[in-house]
Amino acid sequence: MNKLIDILNIQLPIIQGGMGNISNARLAAAVSNAGGLGTIGAGTMQPEEVEKIILETKQLTNKPFAVNVALSVSPYTKEILGMIIKHAVQAVSLSAGNPAPFIPKLKEHGVKVICVVASPKQAVKAEKAGADVIVAEGYEAAGINSNLETTTFTLIPQIASKVTVPIAAAGGIGDGKGLAAALALGASGVQMGTRLIATKEAPFHEEYKNTLLSADDQGTVIVGRSVGRVRRVLKTPYSDYLLEKEAIGITLEDFNGLTTEEHHKLGALQGKLDRGFINGGQISSIISDIPSVEDLFVCIMKDAKEELMRASNLI
Ligand SMILES: Cc1cc2nc3c(=O)[nH]c(=O)nc-3n(C[C@H](O)[C@H](O)[C@H](O)COP(=O)(O)O)c2cc1C
Repeated sequence: MNKLIDILNIQLPIIQGGMGNISNARLAAAVSNAGGLGTIGAGTMQPEEVEKIILETKQLTNKPFAVNVALSVSPYTKEILGMIIKHAVQAVSLSAGNPAPFIPKLKEHGVKVICVVASPKQAVKAEKAGADVIVAEGYEAAGINSNLETTTFTLIPQIASKVTVPIAAAGGIGDGKGLAAALALGASGVQMGTRLIATKEAPFHEEYKNTLLSADDQGTVIVGRSVGRVRRVLKTPYSDYLLEKEAIGITLEDFNGLTTEEHHKLGALQGKLDRGFINGGQISSIISDIPSVEDLFVCIMKDAKEELMRASNLI
């Protein structure tokens, strides 16, 4: 009945967004064990590091999970995709680049391919190239966003009218209301990043989780717009510093130097909020607790069903 669930062989229409370099096996396995699709984020990691996390995840779950490769970020795309095939990982999510050259080989080996897009044009191209699932991400989302700055609410119905493969909506979804809205807009499920940071299993520093919990509607900012490298982060001393640099004028090269994965780890894993950044989406402002992934999903599914019933009574 739900193509997304059927294709990915999962129980709930929820995908964990890739979180390159900082998420771990425990979180991916917790998502998969709770019925969603857990994801390992390759980021800039060496193939051996990714392999280690794949093996750890396999120890923690016998359910399907995915590896995310951000194509313009990973220096090791080919090697990591080879590793995914070698270890028969069930799904791969490809983002931040053209997925077309990589899809045929993955599909030949039975790997389900999820393509992350930010426009209807990209979605149509990805479907033509063989994507099994499209993740459509609006710029409410945490982390690197498309320069197109499209919103989830407008993106989903446009893409739903143009592709036949199932769509997961990403960007700004953190509860049952969000899941219900995504389904109403034409998606078959959701991909979440920010909401999963505030879970018991997420391996992030307490300062990261606390900053997220205390964020209000102005709690995230876009850094990098002036150099064409749009990234949504939680407002911290380091994001203020980056914005000051941009206000004075900064080159793309210098901006990249200030937002390396080392700065990401400093913020997210070590809680050094004056020396590193922490990704966070606009949905941060409605997040106020740190449940286990399983409790979170039970609550999201229950609330989504209630919201869809409530809404249907309004018309
Ligand atoms: C800490 C963090 C790191 C992320 N890193 C990646 C990444 O490596 N690759 C990617 O495709 N998306 C990345 N994202 C985006 C998520 O996969 C997801 O699509 C996004 O968070 C969804 O929007 P939301 O934050 O509003 O839930 C990251 C998000 C977070 C929170």
